[in-house]
Amino acid sequence: MSSMGRGKVILLGEHAVVYGVPAIAAGLGRGVSASASPANETTLECSPWGTRHGLASDEDLGRALSAVVAAHPSAPLPPLRVSADVALPAGAGLGCSAALGVAVIRALDAAVAHVASDAEVAERALAWEQVFHGNASGLDNTMAAHGGVASYVRGEPLEALDVRRPLRLVIGNSDESSSTRTMVESVARQRERDPERFAKNLDAIATLVKNARLALEAGDTRALGQLMDLNQALLSAWFLSTTALEDMCRAARDAGAAGAKLTGAGGGGCMIALVESDETSAAVIAALEALGFSAFEAEAG
Ligand code: PMV
Repeated sequence: MSSMGRGKVILLGEHAVVYGVPAIAAGLGRGVSASASPANETTLECSPWGTRHGLASDEDLGRALSAVVAAHPSAPLPPLRVSADVALPAGAGLGCSAALGVAVIRALDAAVAHVASDAEVAERALAWEQVFHGNASGLDNTMAAHGGVASYVRGEPLEALDVRRPLRLVIGNSDESSSTRTMVESVARQRERDPERFAKNLDAIATLVKNARLALEAGDTRALGQLMDLNQALLSAWFLSTTALEDMCRAARDAGAAGAKLTGAGGGGCMIALVESDETSAAVIAALEALGFSAFEAEAG
């Protein structure tokens, strides 16, 4: 049996969330699956990366594995071979490391018949995330374990939203790497330079997020798409978009997406486009691939 950890996207409100505005995050139907079986020593193998780490490895994956094995509620665990199948791009803002952590934890649990709630898994996955992100916010590991759609206010527990219907997203990868810290710092500098303009932008994003929540609860995909487009414009005003992200958003909208925006830190990473039908989904993916980007559809929420 294989155990799953989900990827995540931020639907609206990234960066503004740093200044107290709620963000809306969604767990993806795609992520990482893993299974564990008895072995002579404990290892983690990840495909398609072709990596293999043991408990003594001083690389991040080995240290993260050690952290969750040592802190397991049934420790000491017997030696286990954990195999993970990663179906998300890494380092693209889709919560790949948290999805892997949750999948590994669930695989360990299944191997030793430990029954854990989603909340317990999310909490244990924070120790995994700290290895990769130092000061992890708690968003990725929580979404990886729970899925669904949630409103997230910094420093507060996630609030699950009652979404009328699952969302269909096409995710396009710009293949440009960016650092979340650098992007957050560049927004902070803009705030220092022109606090008034910054506050106006922040207020506008807060209004979009409020309306997006209503649209999600009402199942109004069209309205949600328009709010995503507007959020994208405000994120570009903070210089968080790139030519690749803009090209992807335009191509997705031209191919019939209800809305499109960058997701997460920006400066690279991924674009999300809201689609309503198989035809639109295929058209958006084809349009992105024609521009040379990789793209896939994932159900969210
Ligand atoms: O791309 P991610 O998952 O690292 O999201 C970053 C979200 C920010 O709002 C830009 C930063 C943060 O800490 O909330």
